[in-house]
Amino acid sequence: MKSKTLFILCWCSFIISCDFDEAPPTMTETPYEFNLPAGVPFPPIPSDRAVTLERVALGKQLFYDKRLSRNETISCGSCHLQSEGFADHHPISIGIDNRIGFRNSPTLINVAYHPYFFREGGNNSLESQVFGPIEDHREMDFSTIGIIERLKDDENIQTLSHQAFGKSLDNFVIVRALSAFERTLISANSKYDRFKYWGENEALTISEQRGMSLFFSTRLNCGSCHGGFDFSEYAIVNNGAFASFDDHGLARITADSSDIGKFKVPTLRNIELTAPYMHNGTYNSLEEVIERYNQGGFGHPNQSSLIQSLQLSEQEKSDLIAFLKSLTDWDFINNSEFSE
Ligand code: HEC
Ligand code: HEC
Repeated sequence: MKSKTLFILCWCSFIISCDFDEAPPTMTETPYEFNLPAGVPFPPIPSDRAVTLERVALGKQLFYDKRLSRNETISCGSCHLQSEGFADHHPISIGIDNRIGFRNSPTLINVAYHPYFFREGGNNSLESQVFGPIEDHREMDFSTIGIIERLKDDENIQTLSHQAFGKSLDNFVIVRALSAFERTLISANSKYDRFKYWGENEALTISEQRGMSLFFSTRLNCGSCHGGFDFSEYAIVNNGAFASFDDHGLARITADSSDIGKFKVPTLRNIELTAPYMHNGTYNSLEEVIERYNQGGFGHPNQSSLIQSLQLSEQEKSDLIAFLKSLTDWDFINNSEFSE
């Protein structure tokens, strides 16, 4: 009786995983080299989530795989495009069957540094975040159970899965592989980085340097919110960009009216590629954004006191924009390591 049960168990586990002609490949853990310049902090990676070349290879494959959506039409890469700084150009993202989503797609660049995810910070791990888009009926409208079943006989995926995690594709493998790939999306080679971290004094023009001084000045205060290596320390604040809010931001989870209109400070890296701007994509250009800050915001009751009228001259506005454009990292945008 006992051996019969064992036989049935073995047989079941055999049919739910890929039918390899030979034994599945063994797990290999080749460390991923982050290659960051001096001064750029190493991303905080939990000790049980080591980023290996094998995990990144599988994660990248899954990131660009449309079979992760119910009708196999969209992948993570459909809303997070490398050429658009891992964001997209729609004001509000568009998902399966052209369903309009809920927010503007944020960049995934430097997401390894974020302490929480989504625009109001309502999710606290890169791993659990993965279930959001897969299950959202306006995004991929599917399930990890469906994905596991659909990919169970895909020899390429199953080989990568065994190499990366020593087992067939399952929930654990899907979320860990995607996060491993996302943690490698580090942009640190813009003109600004070459000036600041790589010691190239000529990397920024005089106008860009003036814009940088303005940006970090106590008069403009941009650096108080958009500070540090990633141009954000991820505070959740109201930046005065709107007079009223359909999307209540942080208040959606706290139900506290003093949190209405508070959103996670976004990075400004590669900002010229990620238009339109803000959580709802209603600002079309950097000029519009600067003009709103120049006016001192709309004065919503929850607006941060750091947002004040600036009285910028035309020269100052164009210097500021020149500086923001120096944050584009073309090496990163064109790096085939991150491409489909
Ligand atoms: C239909 C478009 C769409 C698809 C497909 C999509 N995303 Fe997103 N993604 C978004 C939007 C919109 C947000 C912002 C959601 C929010 O703030 O509530 C987001 C947020 C994120 C965030 C959080 C970023 C931050 O700054 O907090 C991560 C990480 C992410 N997506 C990864 C993925 C992964 C991995 C996949 C594939 C499994 C994926 N996305 C598929 C549109 C999409
Ligand atoms: C009080 C904190 C704070 C200050 C000060 C601040 N910002 Fe922001 N910034 C934010 C927040 C929060 C958002 C996102 C708001 C949203 O999603 O609706 C944002 C959004 C932006 C965006 C659009 C980013 C995107 O991806 O959509 C740009 C560009 C920007 N800020 C530039 C600046 C500049 C330039 C300054 C100085 C003149 C500045 N910010 C000052 C908090 C701040």
